[in-house]
Amino acid sequence: MAAPATSHQSIPLITPYRIGKLDLSHRVVLAPLTRQRSYKNVPQPHAVLYYSQRTSNGGLLIAEATGVSDTAQGYPDTPGIWTKEQVEAWKPIVDAVHAKGGIFFCQIWHVGRVSNPAYQPNGQAPISSTDKPLKPQMRSNGIDTVQFTPPRRLRTDEIPQIVNNFRLAARNAIEAGFDGVEIHGAHGYLLEQFMKDGVNDRTDEYGGSLENRCRFPLEVVEAVVNEIGADRVGIRLSPFAEYADSIDSNPKQLGLYMVNALNKYGILYCHMVEPRIKNGVEQVECPNSLVPMRKAFNGTFIAAGGYDREDGNNAIAENRADLVAYGRLFLANPDLPKRFALNAPLNKYNRETFYISDPVLGYTDYPFLDEEPNGVAS
Ligand SMILES: Cc1cc2nc3c(=O)[nH]c(=O)nc-3n(C[C@H](O)[C@H](O)[C@H](O)COP(=O)(O)O)c2cc1C
Repeated sequence: MAAPATSHQSIPLITPYRIGKLDLSHRVVLAPLTRQRSYKNVPQPHAVLYYSQRTSNGGLLIAEATGVSDTAQGYPDTPGIWTKEQVEAWKPIVDAVHAKGGIFFCQIWHVGRVSNPAYQPNGQAPISSTDKPLKPQMRSNGIDTVQFTPPRRLRTDEIPQIVNNFRLAARNAIEAGFDGVEIHGAHGYLLEQFMKDGVNDRTDEYGGSLENRCRFPLEVVEAVVNEIGADRVGIRLSPFAEYADSIDSNPKQLGLYMVNALNKYGILYCHMVEPRIKNGVEQVECPNSLVPMRKAFNGTFIAAGGYDREDGNNAIAENRADLVAYGRLFLANPDLPKRFALNAPLNKYNRETFYISDPVLGYTDYPFLDEEPNGVAS
């Protein structure tokens, strides 16, 4: 379904969409991408350029996973949003996105057991729904392996404190100027460690039945909605993914239960990762589809995972999603919406620089369409 390069009307991804009170000029969303360049968990000035490069007028951007507390981290130099210093550091980044007409959501995150004492206050054990340890995992660059130590199972009476961390992080995100937050309920991190029956082995009201396993994530949603308003809240879910040994025996049932429960809160959007993405980015043939969840959810539905231009256009044209989030292609193509509009060639991404701490290399040095065509692939 190649469309003439000049006719934007006939390119489904490049059509306007109204999300809550916000007007988008196209459907190409920047997926949340951890880049590990926020030294000591504080966003840095180089992120101003990185995000503003990826901003288009009326485009939606989702910031990289951002820790809600000092127990939330599991990787080097990922940003946080629990201290005043972090909130202040986000402000110029958010301002730069707004100055170019972008809409910016912050992905708020707790890794749970995907951590080790090097990232924890006082070298304590990471927290989780369980005390089951996690095997070493490959990062989504397919290069680095991450080591973990056994987690400590949260006591029932500790759970409200973690819910409160998410509430405060959402408040801080609004204080920093973000248009809203995306609760990170995907990829084997803390919320999924509660949702999925392959991990959650609790016997209290947060374990066992589907309703019990989804209780904690839904308490987080409710607290965040009450704090900043449902029209500023999205959530990311990956029921079919198996990242970080986080597997459910009935992912479709889990996905449907969650979207139906989310409807009661009237949140702005649900962002779901395609079943074909099992391990963060690895793509496999898969008969499952997000369509049942898309149909059941009342708000805006964002699909992500393994999309290219044609597949994204088809998803919009066939009403399988309202918006499509792009990860690796947007990382390597700061002007991705423009390239899709023109059906222009794309830069290739370099997985070796996904997670290095260099403030420029593999971060802000991917060329724009009108620049020298270094590394441009057809
Ligand atoms: C370098 C890198 C960092 C990522 N960081 C995050 C993250 O912080 N939060 C998240 O939900 N997903 C993260 N992901 C997953 C992406 O958002 C996206 O779902 C995945 O790359 C599949 O989409 P794609 O095929 O368009 O790249 C990351 C992926 C990559 C490659």
